[in-house]
Amino acid sequence: MTESRFISSAVSNGNPYSTKWEAPSNIALIKYWGKTEPQLPKNPSLSFTLSSSVTTTEVHFLPSGKEEIEFEFYFEGALKPDFHPKLNSFFERIKTYIPWITSYSLKISSQNSFPHSSGIASSASAMAALSLCIMDMEQTLFPELSKADFNQKASFLARLGSGSAARSVEGPVTLWGKNDIQNEGSDLYATPFGANLNPLFKDFQDTILLVDKGSKAVSSTQGHQLMFNHPFANQRFVQAANNLADLISIMKSGDLDGFMRIVETEALSLHAMMMTSNPYFILMQPHTLEIIQRVWKFRKQTQIPLCFTLDAGANVHLLYPEMIKDKVRSFIADHLASFCQKGQYLYDSVGSGAKKV
Ligand code: PMV
Repeated sequence: MTESRFISSAVSNGNPYSTKWEAPSNIALIKYWGKTEPQLPKNPSLSFTLSSSVTTTEVHFLPSGKEEIEFEFYFEGALKPDFHPKLNSFFERIKTYIPWITSYSLKISSQNSFPHSSGIASSASAMAALSLCIMDMEQTLFPELSKADFNQKASFLARLGSGSAARSVEGPVTLWGKNDIQNEGSDLYATPFGANLNPLFKDFQDTILLVDKGSKAVSSTQGHQLMFNHPFANQRFVQAANNLADLISIMKSGDLDGFMRIVETEALSLHAMMMTSNPYFILMQPHTLEIIQRVWKFRKQTQIPLCFTLDAGANVHLLYPEMIKDKVRSFIADHLASFCQKGQYLYDSVGSGAKKV
C-alpha cells in the first residue's frame, strides 16, 4: 500500500463550507517511540481510544482564489499565531494529498475538554479533529468516498501532524504499524482492532492522575530523535513487536493478568529508553513512583486488577475494568489523590472514536 493512493483528485467547487468535529485523545498500551521520516513508526503500537478527553475543532473553508494555503488559528476563542509553525509544517506535509486545499482560506477554531496545562498531550486529538474536518470538506467535493476510505485517510493525514494522532480517529482500540499478526496493519494509518475484542475492554476505565501539569522538559519530538543511535533501540523495537503479538491475543481472550503485565512492561520500557538515551532524561517525578508502588501494593493485597501506564510525562494513567470502578475510585480518592498536583485527577474511559458535532 503506497501513499499515492491518498492523493485526491477532488477540485474546489468554489463554495464555502463549515464543519465541526470532536476527536478523542488516546492512551498507548504498546508504545510508539522512535520514527523515520515522514512520521513512520519504528514499531507497531496499540492504544485505547478515550472518551472524555477530546479536542473539538471547527473549520470554515472560504474560497480564496489564491492557489496557496491560508489559515487563521483560534484556540479557546483567542487568535494564536504561535501555533502557526506547527500548522504550517502540517499543511506542507499534507498538501500533496489534498491539492484542492490551496483554493481555500481556513478559519480554524479549536478547544479541549481537558484543562489547560494538565500535562495531557493534546496533539493527537487536535491533529485528528483537524484532519477529520479536512476530510469532511473533501467528502463534499468527492461524494463517492466510502466511510472506510474516509477514516483511513483521516488517520493518514493525522499521522503526518503527530504520529500518535493516527490512532485518534476510530475506537475503541486501534493499531498502527505493520505487524506480523494483522494483514491490514500499516505504517501509514491506524486501523480499529476489529470484531474479536473481548467485551471487557470495551468499557475499560482510565483515570488520569495529574502528577505534573507543567510542560515537559524534553518533548516527544526530541525523545523520538534520541532513538537514533540509541544503544537499546533495536531490542526495544523487537520487544514492542513481541508485546503487541501477545497483547492482541490477550485483548481477544480477556486475560487480565497478561494485560497488566504487558501494559506495565511497555510503560517502564518507554521510560527506560528515556533514561538510557544520550543525553539521558527522566520524565517521571517522585510522586509518579510513589503512585506506582501504591498501585502494586494495593493489587497484591486486594487481587483487584488495577494497573498503570505512562505517557511521555509524569502523569499516571490507571487502567481497570468498569465492574470494579467503585473500589478503585475509593482507593484513588483515599490513597493516591494526595500525590496529584492540587489533588487533581480525571476520569476517562474507552470510547468509540471521533464524531461530527
Ligand atoms: O505522537 P507523538 O510524536 O507525540 O509520540 C507519542 C509517544 C507516546 O505518547 C509516548 C507513545 C504513544 O504511542 O502514544
